[in-house]
Amino acid sequence: MSIVAIVASPRKKGNTNKIIEAMAEGAKKNGKDVKIYHLNALTNAKGCQACMACKTSVGCAVKDDNGEILKAIRDCEGLILSTPNYFGEASGQFRLLQDRFYSFIGADFVPNIEPKKLVVVVSCGGPAAGGDALADKIEGSMVKYFKFEPIARMVIPNATPIDTVANDPEILEKAAAIGKKF
Ligand SMILES: Cc1cc2nc3c(=O)[nH]c(=O)nc-3n(C[C@H](O)[C@H](O)[C@H](O)COP(=O)(O)O)c2cc1C
Repeated sequence: MSIVAIVASPRKKGNTNKIIEAMAEGAKKNGKDVKIYHLNALTNAKGCQACMACKTSVGCAVKDDNGEILKAIRDCEGLILSTPNYFGEASGQFRLLQDRFYSFIGADFVPNIEPKKLVVVVSCGGPAAGGDALADKIEGSMVKYFKFEPIARMVIPNATPIDTVANDPEILEKAAAIGKKF
């Protein structure tokens, strides 16, 4: 898969998912393959077990659904990370996967994954500032620890109604245009 997209909202018809679908369509128009993972649909997904196996050999030793996603990310050329803002943080589903990114750095904290193009998407019920702060945090760690290369970001404010994005063609167009950047 050339592009891996992570949807961390439990609402399969919600705002972040709508954005990811539009972004994926844009990327596909640009000739990319896109694989979308709905974290809430995973039935066997653990967080980091702090076993430190990734500090003596490359990759995560935990064999579960998140482990498969880690492998897909390793092989992809571009990554889209999307989450709703929950109490100023990413969703729990997102955090389980995010801690597993620890396996992308060795004992020396040097990344053992090729840098990927990155887009972060955050949807929030409140104003954009909260979403931007969360996007900063997610993007910041992907840059600091893994040297990923942000190419764009989307923060959607006032998006508690499930269909805010679905009813906003301008947002969907922007998402598709970002998808074409991959
Ligand atoms: C548990 C929970 C906590 C939330 N906390 C915040 C918050 O701290 N700030 C905020 O702006 N929105 C908050 N929201 C609103 C969601 O971020 C918002 O509805 C988001 O757009 C949902 O995205 P989705 O449609 O993709 O599920 C919260 C919603 C839930 C369910």
